Amino acid sequence: MSRSAHPAGPRHADVLTEGHYSAPAADLNALDEKVWSRTVTRDADGALTVGGITVARLAEEFGTPAYFLDESDFRARCRAWADAFGPDADVFYAGKAFLSRAVVRWLKEEGLNLDVCSGGELTTALDAGMPAERIAFHGNNKTVAEIERAVEAGVGRIVLDSFQEIVRVAHVARRHGVRQRVQIRVTVGVEAHTHEFIATAHEDQKFGIALADGQAAEAVRRALALDGLDLIGVHSHIGSQIFDMAGFEVSARRVVQLLAEIRDEHGVELPEIDLGGGLGIAYTSEDDPREPHEIAKALSDIVTRECEAAKLRTPRISVEPGRAIVGPTAFTLYEVGTIKPLEGLRTYVSVDGGMSDNIRTALYDAEYSVALVSRTSDAEPMLVRVVGKHCESGDIVVKDAFLPADLAPGDLIAVPATGAYCRSMASNYNHALRPPVVAVRDGEARVIVRRETEEDLLRLDVG
Ligand code: LLP
Repeated sequence: MSRSAHPAGPRHADVLTEGHYSAPAADLNALDEKVWSRTVTRDADGALTVGGITVARLAEEFGTPAYFLDESDFRARCRAWADAFGPDADVFYAGKAFLSRAVVRWLKEEGLNLDVCSGGELTTALDAGMPAERIAFHGNNKTVAEIERAVEAGVGRIVLDSFQEIVRVAHVARRHGVRQRVQIRVTVGVEAHTHEFIATAHEDQKFGIALADGQAAEAVRRALALDGLDLIGVHSHIGSQIFDMAGFEVSARRVVQLLAEIRDEHGVELPEIDLGGGLGIAYTSEDDPREPHEIAKALSDIVTRECEAAKLRTPRISVEPGRAIVGPTAFTLYEVGTIKPLEGLRTYVSVDGGMSDNIRTALYDAEYSVALVSRTSDAEPMLVRVVGKHCESGDIVVKDAFLPADLAPGDLIAVPATGAYCRSMASNYNHALRPPVVAVRDGEARVIVRRETEEDLLRLDVG
């Protein structure tokens, strides 16, 4: 998914021409700050530390595999997004990237709002004290029970994703005697440059209501006619792990055009637009993500310009970054188990986790980086594939990377940028126990999501 590919490197020369990988870094011990969270560094002995704590201590206290989340980095990223967009816009963190009660409290303290897309996420948000009015409820197939709970709780907005849902939400709201604030999610017809499974604004997929054939305009007509609904705006989310701002700009332009058409037809200027999430992060040194202030400026410039041209009042903008906030803040720590050199191919390094804690490589062909973190090494680079312990050859964590050739069982290696869509997509495949998430800040580490136990597995198995 990221844009790497320049073969080189001293070992396994015969496969280098296939090259899905970059050249080894000049210094394998160097930590590229693009992919590591902000407090990560190496101590005098060469061990990686986060929040001032070495990985050896973290591994001893919390075990491996485990996700370590740099809390001050998470908070700083929340503030950077909030500051970039300013008081006239709203930042909703997309909880699907990773959600826990601690995360909800941090968001609340840092002034962010929260996007949830299931009853489970809604429960977590409310339980941890997120005010309901700061919650947006998403999803292409919300159940009536979920809609009931969202309306009852008083969520700030429900994003309507289909004609049926317009009626369902209106009905529930009327029964509760309220006017529910809603947005309509439209499909703007943009082909985002990302993996097919995470592109969401082209026409042939399940999300939203198409702009192109007048469906979105019809949805607006219906929503405006129902007294249980307070239509506050239009929503568009074009996909995920996107670097090119062009797709967002087209999306913003089309959404503003729709607002102008709504004004012309109904005489109302909807006050808000939501441009979704989807901003890419660096998984490897090849990736160059945009900073929040660049994104905010690009989006607000285009919306302002288009509104001026259409003689519309500029609507309040909201965005929904998930990956861009939490992704870079965590790494997964693994212990090296077996090491299998395949002559003329590459060396397979097996770790104590795998596709159960990071499915993204198998699912999207995602690229990751990896480093030896329990020590430094001056050994020459060795081309490796980091694999898990599951019963599948597709159980790959890092497809192609370089680690020092003296790597040995018992060494700790870490995969950075695993804060988003790793724990939240983790599974119990092969009855693996999902790893804990440990928040690290200012010399203190605490479990925010505990490791699963075999008792947890047996508790669900009631047969
Ligand atoms: N808003 C909506 C309506 C979304 O559907 C999503 C993500 C977001 C915001 C947040 O997008 P982000 O800023 O995190 O890219 N599992 C995939 C990503 C799926 C994204 C689904 N929707 C992955 O691991 O790459």
